[in-house]
Amino acid sequence: MYVLALAVIGAIAVAVFVIDSLWSLFELISSYLMPYFIPTEVLPLSKKYGSWAAITGSTDGIGKHYALELAQRGINVVLISRNIEKLKKVADEIEKLHSVKTKIIVADFSKGPEIYPHIEEQLKDIPLGILVNNVGVQYEYPMPLCELPAAKAWEIINVNVVAVTSMTRMVLPGMVARGQGAIVNVSSGSELQPLPLMSVYAATKVYIRNFTFAIRDEYDSKGIHIQHLSPLFVSTKMNNFSQKLLDGNMLVPDATTYTRHAITTLGRVQNTTGYWLHGIQYFFIKLAPEWIRIKIGAQINREFREEHMQHLRTKT
Ligand SMILES: NC(=O)c1ccc[n+]([C@@H]2O[C@H](COP(=O)([O-])OP(=O)(O)OC[C@H]3O[C@@H](n4cnc5c(N)ncnc54)[C@H](OP(=O)(O)O)[C@@H]3O)[C@@H](O)[C@H]2O)c1
Repeated sequence: MYVLALAVIGAIAVAVFVIDSLWSLFELISSYLMPYFIPTEVLPLSKKYGSWAAITGSTDGIGKHYALELAQRGINVVLISRNIEKLKKVADEIEKLHSVKTKIIVADFSKGPEIYPHIEEQLKDIPLGILVNNVGVQYEYPMPLCELPAAKAWEIINVNVVAVTSMTRMVLPGMVARGQGAIVNVSSGSELQPLPLMSVYAATKVYIRNFTFAIRDEYDSKGIHIQHLSPLFVSTKMNNFSQKLLDGNMLVPDATTYTRHAITTLGRVQNTTGYWLHGIQYFFIKLAPEWIRIKIGAQINREFREEHMQHLRTKT
């Protein structure tokens, strides 16, 4: 009897593992191969969702390239970021390259709730079809919690958690009223498990994942496509702590390459890393039990921390 009970528990555990892995494999194939089988967008994004998009954190990295990719598809873009000079420069660049309108909104998301009435006022006459909740901040370098300045922890929470929540809450009613819209919530592969030495950052990305999955269920039937975009490493200034990441490679694409892939999944895939090689990595990472992933994540971050400290020592 005892042995039978153990056998049943074992069989259930194996079945859960197999189903989870097969589901990951299915997601991998549908996310990464499907866009290649349908190379051109059947219905242009502007027809599907509307002619305006807003992108938060759009003066650099992934956000800037989302704005460029959307503009290339004939979509007018609202750029929301903190630096007016950089905003004007990106808006000029987009208008020179593509025949679309741009609007800039200066907002520092680290300030928390006080900035949203201003953004809402600026957006009130714009029928937003797409919102890319891209803005995000990371640790300066990997560190344990007590080394993280309290102000930095608040900055990460305000930028990574409050922004995605407030912006989504702000634009959803308009999208629902129009019966169409897409929201891309940029999370991170760090949502896969707790991440030592980047604990607050990774926890904010778990929030984004849970938030995205829940509101998708709430608004799917209203014609709103809500995507969870979970990149692994991309070579941007966010990773300034590691020259190896900044140098990039096949697994660490630059923002142009990454975004060119990620945009093809918009409207087609609900959960994706946005880049096929990240998808394969994500699949294998998920095979390992969480406690192993935590240990590997901690080790990788210890190496990045050491690389950063070494860099500081050579500088001084
Ligand atoms: N890079 C990666 O390896 C990686 C991996 C996984 C997920 N992600 C996620 O991808 C998203 C974009 O990251 P990225 O690598 O493109 O970062 P990035 O190159 O540092 O760009 C971040 C953008 O957000 C803006 N921004 C930062 N703090 C802001 C604030 N307080 N208020 C307004 N705007 C602010 C920046 O403005 P400035 O131009 O003024 O700096 C910039 O335009 C983030 O959500 C990040 O967590 C990145």
